[in-house]
Amino acid sequence: QPTLADLAQRHGRYFGSATDNPELTDGPYVALLGSEFDQITPGNGMKWYATEPEQGVFDFSQGDEVVNLARANRQKVRGHTLVWHSQLPEWLTAREWTAPELRAVLKKHIQTEVRHYRGKVFAWDVVNEAFNEDGTYRETVFYKTLGPGYIADALRWAHQADPRVKLYLNDYNIEGIGPKSDAYHRLAKELKAQRVPLHGIGFQAHLALQYGYPTTLEDNLRRFSRLGLDTALTEVDVRMQLPATEEKLAQQAQWYRDLTEACLAVRRCVGVTLWDYTDKYSWIPAFFPGEGAALPWDEQLLPKPAYFALREALGGR
Ligand code: G3I
Repeated sequence: QPTLADLAQRHGRYFGSATDNPELTDGPYVALLGSEFDQITPGNGMKWYATEPEQGVFDFSQGDEVVNLARANRQKVRGHTLVWHSQLPEWLTAREWTAPELRAVLKKHIQTEVRHYRGKVFAWDVVNEAFNEDGTYRETVFYKTLGPGYIADALRWAHQADPRVKLYLNDYNIEGIGPKSDAYHRLAKELKAQRVPLHGIGFQAHLALQYGYPTTLEDNLRRFSRLGLDTALTEVDVRMQLPATEEKLAQQAQWYRDLTEACLAVRRCVGVTLWDYTDKYSWIPAFFPGEGAALPWDEQLLPKPAYFALREALGGR
């Protein structure tokens, strides 16, 4: 029987999952990760705190482990992430920086990491979560020290280090049309007009049953396509208040079906990535107490209704 990856490939798309280094000792988990998906994203291992734990001292061992696994399984890898306000190393957050100092630090980090993974990742989440919910810039250390131009600079530096890799901006709560996705649309248009190397927008799609489905997803993806950009659903999960009931799992399945169909309906939506595939390794319970059951496989690695909905959405039986 065809895998999700096989089915997605018939549409010229990939179907992927995030993973994380500690889970790679779990045999049955790794087996399913290797067989069902044709793309993986390291959940933490390529972040700044992991890759440059001391200033100027780089450690790519965690990311490399994921890249090597992907190569063995013939999977593509999404690089995640170069510039983010979260999970920064202590040396960076513990002191003040002048603009010239931080520019140099940022450029070196980006270029060293992008060069290291040149030819090994097909895309980078260059800047992650740059905007607030109301569409204003998030006041990160990068924004406050360097101004909004840090985004264009980051994209240019990454492009110099690997001219072939696809460069994305990535965020959550931008699946529907609204102030936050409008901010990305405006910025993307500006960056394109200025010939800044931007190739795609990643829609994380951390959805929650209690907040409703983003019904404008397909239209939203399409307006970014029209700017000449790729789009991708990069961190999909659909959480719910526990306990999971048959009814909630059915609704969740419907959402997984709908979001997959939305991607397939938009020519430049290149693929879908789950933010891990099993509830066993979901980030949700630790961050949203009382919520969970967000992924298509349960904690025993058994497929849930959402898995069968994904197969159907991809045209399988
Ligand atoms: O590495 C330490 C370990 O040494 C320690 O014993 C343990 C105790 O709490 O914590 C470990 O660090 C955890 C880290 O994941 C690695 O497992 C952190 O506490 C935990 O906060 C961190 O969570 C990650 C989260 O980003 C941080 O914001 C999740 O695994 C990761 O899935 C999640 O991913 C993000 C994306 O990068 C961006 N979009 C949102 C998404 C969900 O938050």
